[in-house]
Amino acid sequence: MLSKEQILELLQPLQEPQLGVSLTELQWVRDVMVKEHHVAITFVTLDNQPEDTTALSDAARNLLSQHGIEDVHIRFRAASEHERQNLSEGDIQQDPSDEEVLVKGHAAGLGGHELLSPESGVRYIAIASGKGGVGKSTVTVNLAVALARQGKKVGLIDADIYGFSVPDMMGIEEYPVVEDGVIQPVERFGVKVMSMGFFIRENNPVIWRGPMLGRMLRQFFTDVNWGELDYMLLDLPPGTGDVALDVHQMIPHSKEIIVTTPHATAAFVAARAGAMAIQTEHELLGVVENMAYYECGSCGEKDYVFGRGGGGQLAESLHTSLLAQIPLGAPDNHISEPDFSPSVYKADTNIGTIYAEIAKEIETKF
Ligand SMILES: Nc1ncnc2c1ncn2[C@@H]1O[C@H](COP(=O)(O)OP(=O)(O)OP(=O)(O)O)[C@@H](O)[C@H]1O
Ligand SMILES: [Mg+2]
Repeated sequence: MLSKEQILELLQPLQEPQLGVSLTELQWVRDVMVKEHHVAITFVTLDNQPEDTTALSDAARNLLSQHGIEDVHIRFRAASEHERQNLSEGDIQQDPSDEEVLVKGHAAGLGGHELLSPESGVRYIAIASGKGGVGKSTVTVNLAVALARQGKKVGLIDADIYGFSVPDMMGIEEYPVVEDGVIQPVERFGVKVMSMGFFIRENNPVIWRGPMLGRMLRQFFTDVNWGELDYMLLDLPPGTGDVALDVHQMIPHSKEIIVTTPHATAAFVAARAGAMAIQTEHELLGVVENMAYYECGSCGEKDYVFGRGGGGQLAESLHTSLLAQIPLGAPDNHISEPDFSPSVYKADTNIGTIYAEIAKEIETKF
């Protein structure tokens, strides 16, 4: 049985009749369903001219039958106003190089959507670190939940396209619904969430090229019905790679939180992310030192297992403040609970309270 991704790859040669651009790349091959030897697909096109749809159907059936799939159900849908508007200049070009699409994609993203404009009033917070595994996603998720607990309207974009983790961490099992070509984010603990994880089946690794990534991230803003938001949090991938740069360019007015562990070298690496934030003129909200210490349950004594002082030093060198020191500790949640989530700390716990304080502190910084 072929996976959804394999089907999309197989259909790569099919082009939107008027644009001459791959429907797969436009992400206009939708609702791909695979069940044993049966495949159902929807093609989005600019206009559904009968001769075009027949030609596309024939070509699709042909490609699929070469891989033993004979039972194919194809639907056509005209592109919505929204989808038409989202076509970047790069899409209208014939055979553009990756780089060109990327650059033009950005241009379209910048002018593209009101959610991204500083006038939208949405407060953007990107959560970054120079190094993986320090707790960026944990901090993003818990800060988002803490803000929502304080009555804020919060969105969360899992911008770690390759290494998405937010759906699992929040215990999200449902998928977003598409209405009129607009994706409805999944809501959990009062936070609206969008993640690549919703679109990848069975944890297949994502092996998309740069332009696809840029486009995907942009679509998280433009094709998703976020409604009204006070805050939008972005869980960035580790390091200072392409996606981080994309975010910096798409949302120049975003502010940033740097997460680090207390160890001096971890802080040193995180400083790179901080330097990048400064270079891109993202204002730093501060540093969160995660896994700062272990607090002995019976005696209350603090044991600085991963070293000490890294967060404070980093904040000082970046001329910003140390927002919080979060101790080691797994959330005390049980899988049997109706709103189980592996990584969300409850409001009335020690760590839950620390996140509530960060949320309040942040409120004063905008
Ligand atoms: N304060 C903490 N105490 C105990 N475990 C923690 C704490 N913070 C994070 N963890 C755990 O550490 C691991 C890494 O955290 P997380 O995934 O949030 O890091 P990350 O920086 O987002 O990683 P990546 O770079 O892979 O995206 C996870 O298993 C998480 O549950
Ligand atoms: Mg992460």
